[in-house]
Amino acid sequence: MATLLLLNGPNLNLLGTREPGVYGATTLADVEAQCRATAQRLGYELEAFQSNHEGALIDKIHDAGKRFKTGEVAGVVFNPGAFTHTSVAIFDAISGVKPLPVIEIHISNVHAREAFRHHSYVSPAAAGIVVGFGTDGYTLAIEGLVRKVAAAAAAG
Ligand code: DQA
Repeated sequence: MATLLLLNGPNLNLLGTREPGVYGATTLADVEAQCRATAQRLGYELEAFQSNHEGALIDKIHDAGKRFKTGEVAGVVFNPGAFTHTSVAIFDAISGVKPLPVIEIHISNVHAREAFRHHSYVSPAAAGIVVGFGTDGYTLAIEGLVRKVAAAAAAG
């Protein structure tokens, strides 16, 4: 069974207690369990990784790119947190492992928030984007990723 990778960036380990008015009361462990259940329902394993360190996230993307080539990893759902708005290096990492599909997800509607959250370095490299559905967005992102994977397989 192929694996989907769930990546969460900085401060997302604090989900559940971090600004609950913005991010809700669901913890990262809850999100990971919810994504695992969704992935399994759709016939995939889920591997989850969170880091507050840009380089560790980049290493995971590179590793996913290698595992995509062997068929072990089918795609990635990634909430890059604040690195979304700062990291050319993450854009380069995702661009460098194409055609590995990476779905960018944000819990909050970043476009309804501060201006510095309106620009994403990641979006131009993403296969799809889910924004503003709260933590339910992770489920939508997994479902969307699986549809993209199926469409790519059908296209050969
Ligand atoms: C976030 C939005 C980012 O602007 C913020 O820095 C985060 C979380 C979200 O999921 O809504 O850490 O990615």
